[in-house]
Amino acid sequence: MHARAVAATTTALLGTAALLLPAPDARAGAERPTVIAHRGASAYAPENTLVAVDKAAELGVDWVENDVQRTRDGELVVLHDDNLRRTTDVEEVFPDRAPWKVKDFTAAEIARLDAGGWFGPDYAGARVPTLKQYMDRVELHHQKLLLEIKNPELYPGIEQQTLKVLGNEGWLDEPHLATRLIVQSFSADSVRTVHELKPAVKTGFLGTPPVADLDRYADFADQINPSYGTVSMGYVASVHSVEGPHGKPLEMFVWTVNDANNARLVAGYGVDGIITNTPDVVRDALPAK
Ligand code: G3P
Ligand code: CA
Repeated sequence: MHARAVAATTTALLGTAALLLPAPDARAGAERPTVIAHRGASAYAPENTLVAVDKAAELGVDWVENDVQRTRDGELVVLHDDNLRRTTDVEEVFPDRAPWKVKDFTAAEIARLDAGGWFGPDYAGARVPTLKQYMDRVELHHQKLLLEIKNPELYPGIEQQTLKVLGNEGWLDEPHLATRLIVQSFSADSVRTVHELKPAVKTGFLGTPPVADLDRYADFADQINPSYGTVSMGYVASVHSVEGPHGKPLEMFVWTVNDANNARLVAGYGVDGIITNTPDVVRDALPAK
């Protein structure tokens, strides 16, 4: 039997057995989940801006998550929505440009926008960072990056382009690849493309695939990263029982957990990481190492 098939069989058994395991605190002594600041420390600073990266650093949080998209003239920028309305003043600055899609604006136009005032007056003047600017700031703080390729279907070739920027910024050397970089997407095709272009990059698939399909995802993804409400202890055990493309068990980072109770719950399930807008709250909720 194929090694992965063995794992899948074990998975099915484990999935059932795990449901019968003792309460989550029986996991005491297991490794503490990694805490990842979602869109930076986005409860405290405008999401996906440099100040949100700074805030995570100030809180002592090593890992930040971001969202990468592309402008009309081909610059990679860090922004969550496919349009600029919610997190910038684009409607005031460019009133005639509805629906204000990221892909319809040049990098110079986006650089004029205020990406902080919507969050609070103290943050007025924050900008939408380019990926390069973002990488520079993460490096400055010696942080680690969970980079999401957002809406890749809108941006053909964005995987190769993202890898190029990462390479230019020195993030594809062995030390970065080993412990400081993960590239994820909701698009399995995009994750697969990243893996095929640069197999040494650690990757994650955003979603909750059926247990029976995990084996296929394990060809190109090192992580399965679901919404926390969709997982159980059995599902986490199933994911862990499958071997990923680098010969290690698949990992799981769940999102987006912003309170202590749910942080403790998913930590008890055995997740490897917790993606959160409130990294201080989650960190303080978890048992000390
Ligand atoms: O990193 C997980 C999370 O960011 C996925 O959802 O919509 O916040 O990008 P979203
Ligand atoms: Ca994201």
